Amino acid sequence: MRLFVAVTVPDKITGELEAAVAPLRSSWPSLRWTGRDAWHLTLAFLGEVNEVAAAKLGRRMELATSHHSHLALSLAGSGAFPEADRARVLWTGVQGQRQELRKLADSVAAGARRAGAPPAEEGRRFQPHLTLARSRAPVDVRTLVTELSDYAGDPWTAEEIYLIRSRPQSRPRYETLGTWPLRK
Ligand code: 2AM
Repeated sequence: MRLFVAVTVPDKITGELEAAVAPLRSSWPSLRWTGRDAWHLTLAFLGEVNEVAAAKLGRRMELATSHHSHLALSLAGSGAFPEADRARVLWTGVQGQRQELRKLADSVAAGARRAGAPPAEEGRRFQPHLTLARSRAPVDVRTLVTELSDYAGDPWTAEEIYLIRSRPQSRPRYETLGTWPLRK
């Protein structure tokens, strides 16, 4: 099964972001905009995980979260992968306890590795982001990135991590398989 580990974003925060993004969706119909209900911050994308490794993930996530505390985060700014003038992904970024978020992502990746489910793109630098839109072909989104660059959402506290199954052909696409609390 296709799995990833993420921090979810509260309704109030996605509501604010949706208000900022809604007017842009209709101006850029060629982009595949993500829906508010699918918004999250990925800590580690594990890709296809076999049953044996999946069964070991719970204990590893429990250990990983036991070393990390609640995180004060907010969504802010914007950017694109790989570059704004030839983008495949448009995103909003993360502010607040970014260092701690990175350390948590490292621990999650290490735990997943020990379970036998190493992250699909190990070695790639962790760049916390929330994907707003995708494009199959590279597209110049520099004006969009500029329009969203001043975006600054309210802060919230991330209190747990989620193990999520992704089924691209299903609705809903994402199913939560487990959650583990961070330390207070
Ligand atoms: P993205 O939003 O930047 O596409 C589920 O697909 C989650 O895992 C998404 O948040 C996605 O990030 C992330 N992810 C990271 N690497 C991925 C990959 N190679 N394929 C699919 N999703 C990936």
